[in-house]
Amino acid sequence: MSFNLGFIGGGNMSTAIVQGILKKDSHSPSRIWVSGPRLNNLKQWSELGTNITTKNGEVFCNCDVIFLGVKPGMLYMAVNDCLKTLTTAVSCKKVLFVSMLAGISIGELQKMYIIIEALADGAVKQGVPRAQALRFAAQMVAGSGKMVLQTGKHPGLLKDEVCSPGGSTICGVAALEEGKIR
Ligand SMILES: NC(=O)c1ccc[n+]([C@@H]2O[C@H](COP(=O)([O-])OP(=O)(O)OC[C@H]3O[C@@H](n4cnc5c(N)ncnc54)[C@H](OP(=O)(O)O)[C@@H]3O)[C@@H](O)[C@H]2O)c1
Repeated sequence: MSFNLGFIGGGNMSTAIVQGILKKDSHSPSRIWVSGPRLNNLKQWSELGTNITTKNGEVFCNCDVIFLGVKPGMLYMAVNDCLKTLTTAVSCKKVLFVSMLAGISIGELQKMYIIIEALADGAVKQGVPRAQALRFAAQMVAGSGKMVLQTGKHPGLLKDEVCSPGGSTICGVAALEEGKIR
């Protein structure tokens, strides 16, 4: 592909995306830029052969498609860094920004209740009494949330840690993806 790809923020989401792209061999690492406040945290990106910088503006100037991979609270500062680099020449350039920023909406919370109910339904189908099934399902969701908060690990990593190859957990994950859980 002939365009240059940029990532503002080289954390979990950006890393997952770039790894997917490089695995598919669809983009040369030399045409990929990433920025973040600490070069130390971008070591794995330079190991992949991509360009790393502490200047978001450099990504903005060099790239045609840019993924915004910062936490919502950092967005203003990150974009401001880009704006500071603007000259008349670069302001004419067309850039496609892809935002990965997420917020937890009321809709997402309601979705959790549906998930708890569905988990309980599954247990009832397997012969667990309704009240117990609901309690277990709610505990499971609460426990998973606690794991994310306590370990500080990415949910994707926690999910990977419990999926044995060819096991029932990965089948469950596949079913959830097929049902468009996200
Ligand atoms: N994780 C998910 O499952 C998920 C799913 C959907 C959407 N999202 C959204 O995707 C975005 C990224 O999430 P994430 O999990 O990848 O977060 P993350 O791992 O914390 O990554 C954020 C990155 O932004 C960098 N950063 C901080 N301030 C910056 C600045 N001023 N300019 C440039 N980079 C800066 C951080 O660098 P340092 O580490 O050096 O501080 C870090 O590498 C968030 O907005 C999140 O809501 C996440």
